[in-house]
Amino acid sequence: MQLERLLQKHGFGTRKACRALVRHERVAVNGAICDDPFAEIDTAGLIFTVDGTDWPYAEFASLVLHKPAGYECSRKPQHHPSVLELLPLPLRERGVQPIGRLDEDTTGLLLITDDGQLNHVLSSAKRKVPKVYLATTKHPVDQEQLDKLLAGVLLNDEPELISAAAAEIAGENLLRLTVTEGKYHQVKRMVAAAGNRVEALHREAVGEFALPADLKPGEWRWLAAVDLQKLGYSP
Ligand code: URA
Repeated sequence: MQLERLLQKHGFGTRKACRALVRHERVAVNGAICDDPFAEIDTAGLIFTVDGTDWPYAEFASLVLHKPAGYECSRKPQHHPSVLELLPLPLRERGVQPIGRLDEDTTGLLLITDDGQLNHVLSSAKRKVPKVYLATTKHPVDQEQLDKLLAGVLLNDEPELISAAAAEIAGENLLRLTVTEGKYHQVKRMVAAAGNRVEALHREAVGEFALPADLKPGEWRWLAAVDLQKLGYSP
């Protein structure tokens, strides 16, 4: 692939802007400066560098972010900054978007991608991808609440009972809840319907993929092939 096109694909601006980056010797290919915007680059295992930052060649940009509280998942946020502001500009320019939404005050695992197929697979209601949440509750969690959540609770505007795929007491005021839908404020509404109240919410896992323990709030990393496998996705 031509270097200029490769840079444009990775979010470094218009073709003209990418050509200028290369001509000004700001781009290296596998460690060596390349000043020819039309050089044909072998993309297999490629690492390119722009202004000292390394980038892997990536057909799609698929990432995991440890979402901090105080960020909205919308591209056009209303009251708080967008989670996308936590990403470098070239990734945002690629048009990545969160897969599903977490509330502004929810923390934890957020997947972000520009791969429409991955987004579709994980968001599809039919696939029933499990999402595991840890909720800090106002009142102690008890067996009666778990039973209600597992049997199904009625939420406003929902025609049918919604039941948790799993529910367990994780501490006196801690509930671990697995749901397979992605409805608006789902966990908060389910917990309220079961007679308690969510005071803080954290997403621990989607499918078999858990939030990496070394990823601090606000940090992100690329998803590796093994992560995609855990998400049940093989492109
Ligand atoms: N359920 C909620 O209530 N909020 C979230 O952010 C995610 C699931």
